[in-house]
Amino acid sequence: MKPKPLLLLNIGQLLTLRSATGGPRRGASLSELGIILDAAVLCLGGKIVSIGTTKDALRDPWLKKNRKKIIEIDCGGRVVLPGFVDSHTHPAFTHPRLVDFEKRISGARYEEIAEAGGGIRSSIDGVRRVSKGALARKVSAVLADLACHGTTTVEAKSGYGLSLVSELKSLEAIRAAACEWAGTVVPTFLGAHVVPPEYRKRSQEYVDLVCSEMIPVVAKRKLAQFVDVFCDRGAFSAAETAQIFAAAEEHGLAVRAHLGQLSETRLGPLLRYRPASLDHMDQVNDEDLPALAQSDTVATFVPGANYFLGLAKYPEARRFIESGVAVSLATDYNPGSSPTLSVPMAMSLACTHMKMSPAEAIAAATINGAWALRLARRKGSVEAGKDADLAVFDVSDYREIPYWFGTNRCVLTIMNGVPSDSLSGGERK
Ligand code: NIG
Ligand code: FE
Repeated sequence: MKPKPLLLLNIGQLLTLRSATGGPRRGASLSELGIILDAAVLCLGGKIVSIGTTKDALRDPWLKKNRKKIIEIDCGGRVVLPGFVDSHTHPAFTHPRLVDFEKRISGARYEEIAEAGGGIRSSIDGVRRVSKGALARKVSAVLADLACHGTTTVEAKSGYGLSLVSELKSLEAIRAAACEWAGTVVPTFLGAHVVPPEYRKRSQEYVDLVCSEMIPVVAKRKLAQFVDVFCDRGAFSAAETAQIFAAAEEHGLAVRAHLGQLSETRLGPLLRYRPASLDHMDQVNDEDLPALAQSDTVATFVPGANYFLGLAKYPEARRFIESGVAVSLATDYNPGSSPTLSVPMAMSLACTHMKMSPAEAIAAATINGAWALRLARRKGSVEAGKDADLAVFDVSDYREIPYWFGTNRCVLTIMNGVPSDSLSGGERK
């Protein structure tokens, strides 16, 4: 069913994120939000058709004539921005990892917990046992929660099944949940998350399985747009990652990787595969920044993981931004290192711990998130012709979005022209 025509008016600040130039935001342009005061947005058939001031919108002859047929949302001076593009999440799991949580509080490190049988491997059992329907319901609940926090596009990884059957089940559950959601889901195959226990000390055999059995089926059934690899100490080496990237390329799938979370990996050999994004990036060699800045690859920071693992150190965002690297921000929603669905929380951490300005954090989580998913043609900014993905925040200044941390100020999300929630107090007609 086509979404009904929609008019948002009396927007205190509309952050359009429109840009004159193509390509992801870099350097100073990361701070340009393209703000229109006292604004209005008209959406038809799930697309944005015009933006401007409320005054101009109300004078428009077409609008005057058709006003009765249009759903009007009076934003009452609130802030409206493009729905967040959360370009890194792991929603296909069954249980929170509370034992890991307690162990870490008592002083154990993420890697120690993983070596002792906790960590990613301890999420495998649940996913292998659960039915596809039950897993899809878990993912659906996550999608609903994301929308409540202002996210309208999300990348969703498999990666807790780690066998052909359970990885396919995870991707099918993601697809089933995506079909029920008004927002946009970008599925990613993360068969190379860790080596599963039955392949212990036979990691090359597992990599071969990922490359020669899993990737071909995932590609054939069109279950994923990207192949991801956890390239780090204790997971997969750079050489193994390159092998997996080559297999993905051969089967027409784009690539991305978890990189530099626990240890440094040199970027050169992996940039050859033109990854859409390299994520975490806590440890990156300075000498690699010029090549990264020259490329279209986005560096995606996930400070929720640093926060939840209790780390003192966060990614050095300023070093990347000043080198001209395109950066984005994501939640990394997962049961081990970042159980948060809140992009505003990730933005708040980026401001307080990584010294990104509120404007930079917003651009990183919208337009540059869209670039990190190769969706910038449709997503990430409020411009005529783009998908009608919007978030309304109950604040009067955009800087309040990362300022009020730990509380949800998103009151309405519009996904592909469909409003998800309502403003309270009968302001919506
Ligand atoms: O992005 N680093 C690898 N993957 C996740 C953690 C997954 C987990 O601990 O379950 C991350 O932090
Ligand atoms: Fe992750």
